[in-house]
Amino acid sequence: MARIGEIILEVKDLQTYFVTRWGVVKAVDGVSFVLRKGETLGIVGESGSGKSVTTLSIVRLVPSPPGHIVGGQVLLEGEDILQLDESEMEKVRGDKIAMVLQDPMTALNPVFDIEDQVGEALKIHKGLSGRTLKDQVVDMLRKVRIPAPEVRIKDYPHQLSGGMRQRVVGAIGISCDPQVLIADEPTTSLDATIQAQYLRLLRDLQEETGVGIIFITHDFGIVAKMCDRVAVMYAGKIVEQGDVRQIFNNPSHPYTEALINSVPKMEEKMDRLYSIPGQPPALWNLPQGCAFAPRCPNVFDKCHEAVPPSFDVGEGQFAACWLREKEGASVSSSGV
Ligand SMILES: Nc1ncnc2c1ncn2[C@@H]1O[C@H](COP(=O)(O)OP(=O)(O)OP(=O)(O)O)[C@@H](O)[C@H]1O
Ligand code: SF4
Ligand SMILES: [Mg+2]
Repeated sequence: MARIGEIILEVKDLQTYFVTRWGVVKAVDGVSFVLRKGETLGIVGESGSGKSVTTLSIVRLVPSPPGHIVGGQVLLEGEDILQLDESEMEKVRGDKIAMVLQDPMTALNPVFDIEDQVGEALKIHKGLSGRTLKDQVVDMLRKVRIPAPEVRIKDYPHQLSGGMRQRVVGAIGISCDPQVLIADEPTTSLDATIQAQYLRLLRDLQEETGVGIIFITHDFGIVAKMCDRVAVMYAGKIVEQGDVRQIFNNPSHPYTEALINSVPKMEEKMDRLYSIPGQPPALWNLPQGCAFAPRCPNVFDKCHEAVPPSFDVGEGQFAACWLREKEGASVSSSGV
């Protein structure tokens, strides 16, 4: 395992809204978390909970209009990158923060060879060319364990196996030695073998480079295998975060508990999350109080009155649920 080091990314009270004809959609509504060097943070939650918009806000690629980052800070090594101008931000993307798609077919261009595709970011961000560029591309491919990389760089995507294509996408992701790698789950689910290969690849890359990974998924089972810490999102907010094993064994928010209970057992079909009754709320018309209240088995009067703040439940675990206040937990002072 790569050693977990100092904080490299700190997201503070991030708010990203979409102005739609139904009203203002608070897709990200006061999200705060940190990411450390060599650490994998999972962001988990149902479809529409704001996972992708959170990471698109970090790299400032939210489609605008209709989207606007209306508040908060994104500190990369202490610098608020929300304040950078677009040309400075272009240097951050790909160079310091890379995004990789889990589906290698949509991430690679069929008409360019592997040398061109892996080399492109190195050309743009590092100014490499000629022999140095080629050597660096071969080195990247070796790092992601492509056999005979000197030969394979002339291949086109269709000449590689699915697993190798994924490795190439991984090589592109880490080509500029980013501090942060964001891996967002595709909407269509990958087959189990490809997914397992992909998870192994991300771990290899982290081992090699110490990169901090933000890993987005619907599936708490994958989070449990893959991540050090987890942030659970519901209706644009992080409702629980902390150490994965601790949360898996002792969830402090009823929604987290439901997500964990919906992890499919080995022998079951992958019908994820079907055991959580009800639907996520419309984000332009949230109920007053806790957004999970209409689906929560533990709901009580106070839940309908006010949005629960984040309570510190100890050992780095935080949960936004009024039940924790009843037990005597205090409101988190750190904003997470
Ligand atoms: N371009 C847009 N215009 C309007 N609303 C948007 C737009 N993009 C996202 N949203 C809204 O923001 C909310 C969060 O979307 P987001 O894509 O972050 O969800 P997600 O958690 O990544 O879901 P999934 O698991 O399906 O990828 C959703 O309610 C979505 O409808
Ligand atoms: S605050 Fe109330 S409704 Fe919300 S999760 Fe906790 S118990 Fe359930
Ligand atoms: Mg998404």
